[in-house]
Amino acid sequence: SEALRVALAGLGTVGAGVIKLLDENRELIERRAGRPIEITAVSARDRSRDRGVDLSPFAWEDDSAALAARADVDVVAELIGGSDGPALNLARDTLKAGKSFVTANKAMIAHHGLELAEMAEKAKVALKYEAAVAGGIPVIKGLREGAAANAITSVYGILNGTCNYILTEMESAGGDFSDVLAEAQALGYAEADPTFDIDGIDAAHKLAILASLSFGTALDFDSVATSGIRQVIAADIAEARALGFKVRLVGMAEANGGKLFQRVHCCLVPRKHPLAHVAGSLNAIVAQGNFVGRLFFEGAGAGEGPTASAVVADLIDVARGEYGPAFAMPFARLTTSDPVNVGER
Ligand code: NDP
Ligand code: HSE
Repeated sequence: SEALRVALAGLGTVGAGVIKLLDENRELIERRAGRPIEITAVSARDRSRDRGVDLSPFAWEDDSAALAARADVDVVAELIGGSDGPALNLARDTLKAGKSFVTANKAMIAHHGLELAEMAEKAKVALKYEAAVAGGIPVIKGLREGAAANAITSVYGILNGTCNYILTEMESAGGDFSDVLAEAQALGYAEADPTFDIDGIDAAHKLAILASLSFGTALDFDSVATSGIRQVIAADIAEARALGFKVRLVGMAEANGGKLFQRVHCCLVPRKHPLAHVAGSLNAIVAQGNFVGRLFFEGAGAGEGPTASAVVADLIDVARGEYGPAFAMPFARLTTSDPVNVGER
């Protein structure tokens, strides 16, 4: 049967991972997708950069904007990043062209996800973003489909691999903050601008997406009360440990009394709590459903292989024609709260 023809925009950590995964697991992917998945065209900024993968079979576009209109492309996978700019232009152009769109870009989904979801619905194509939240953990599918029959009352978790890596390395090896951040960058965990990680913004993007999926509310990134891990020093971690706690950056969302509360900040997590055992670049999400009870999702939240795994899972869905709604529908708008700090609640 006919191959699904994919354009890849962005060939960094995630883009190169997608090429490797499609190549290494080609046969099993074809069996599961019901047809081959083939990359036909790619784009990045620097054509001469060695990415550790063979790009010679693919057409090259200097401008990612050209990918959407190519006749040999059925679906675009955007792995560039950034809430606006080339990523958003490519998303709009692809959906306008009546083609499906897959992305790992939580910043763009948190800001423009509903607009893009509407465009995809009108065009009867897919908007897929499994990789945008918690890397390789299938939490988008898990909440949107697996827990679809439940009223979700709360969703919280460790949503940033870079911060969790820094906090757990500072704890176990007593490393210096900036050295450990440099390690996380070298391992491919951090955002192009790592302030998005360490100031909690990346976790807030993901939390806004999870809250919208869980509660059927409109995406509301602006009302996430957000702080990061910049202020944490080794002595804080040692003191917490002496008292029986671990320091973790946690995102929490709760629908309560017609209001949505969303916040991201450092927490003292009791050593016995499952989140205290989430180490390194792992992420974990806890969701409470009224029939299923407590769900706990854990796995690699960042890095080449896990993130590529989620992107390719979305491509397999597209190959099978499994489009579905991008978010929980319809969007029953709860009144959103102003940002609140824990102490003020
Ligand atoms: P990288 O910085 O490693 O790669 C970004 C890629 O985009 C590079 O290949 C770069 O080109 C290319 N690029 C940048 N600007 C443009 C442009 N204007 N036009 C075309 N290509 C461009 O990022 P990652 O691979 O780490 O992340 C990609 C996306 O995936 C982001 O949205 C990120 O948030 C998300 N993500 C990342 C995860 C991770 O663990 N790394 C996990 C989950 C999601 P060049 O190489 O030539 O500079
Ligand atoms: N920079 C992100 C993180 C990548 O560290 O979690 C995964 O979304």
